Amino acid sequence: MAQKAISFAGVRLVLSGSEIYRDVSFDVAEGEFVCLLGPSGCGKSTALRLIGDLLPVQGGTVSVGGKSPKEAWERTAFVFQSPRLLPWKTTEENAAFGIEMRKPEVSREARLARAREELAHVGLGQDGHKMPVMLSGGERQRVSIARALALDPEIILMDEPFSALDHTTRTRLRKQIVDLWSGSGKTVLFVTHDIDEALYLADRIVVLSKKPTRVEEIVTVDAPRPRVPEEDAELLRLRAHLVSVFERLEEGETVDA
Ligand SMILES: Nc1ncnc2c1ncn2[C@@H]1O[C@H](COP(=O)(O)OP(=O)(O)OP(=O)(O)O)[C@@H](O)[C@H]1O
Ligand SMILES: [Mg+2]
Repeated sequence: MAQKAISFAGVRLVLSGSEIYRDVSFDVAEGEFVCLLGPSGCGKSTALRLIGDLLPVQGGTVSVGGKSPKEAWERTAFVFQSPRLLPWKTTEENAAFGIEMRKPEVSREARLARAREELAHVGLGQDGHKMPVMLSGGERQRVSIARALALDPEIILMDEPFSALDHTTRTRLRKQIVDLWSGSGKTVLFVTHDIDEALYLADRIVVLSKKPTRVEEIVTVDAPRPRVPEEDAELLRLRAHLVSVFERLEEGETVDA
């Protein structure tokens, strides 16, 4: 495997006395697109919080580019399910807001220029002056993607970023995110509970069990991109397999290590 961008090694996590992770281990290589898939409440968002140094662990280690999350947080940027835009700022000011927070030394002109560049990449080059209320749900989410990209992070952490959008918009944004990622060298860890989404996007899929959580399985997806999951025999086979893994998880028949 290439250099590790993210590594979970034997991570144990207890929150408010309840065991969330029993033993979670997986790696994400530099430049890789990995989806984290698992049932609701298994700790997918929590994994991103650990990488972002928002929570400590009780055992094992989380490392980011070989460093602790505390030392490495500037390498990462987040995209959440809801775009979290500031309603009183324009689209381009919102897209520049990550830089404003993280690098206050960058001038307003320079950060707005960066924001405009990334807005153009997500197809919003003409919309920088609009207020968030004037944008569609999909457009707002694209602003939040531009806000993350404007930081030029090595690692992009995405937490179900398309799950609140309609089917057509979701499909379009999935394609767009693959186009943005391809050739960028950036690492993406993308949380989803949608098997089809993971099969469309990922180089590898890390499947988490129910709590107390372990890695249930890691699936490599070799199909060429752009993918047409319903027409690709290998993807259909993986889909059937993941559906059966999920059914087993729902029934609670996880094997204790
Ligand atoms: N501060 C806390 N104290 C106690 N339990 C917590 C705390 N924060 C999160 N949890 C629990 O940790 C578990 C994992 O939460 P997390 O949000 O990571 O799940 P998830 O896999 O992202 O779920 P979903 O698919 O519904 O978004 C949940 O059972 C949640 O209730
Ligand atoms: Mg979540």
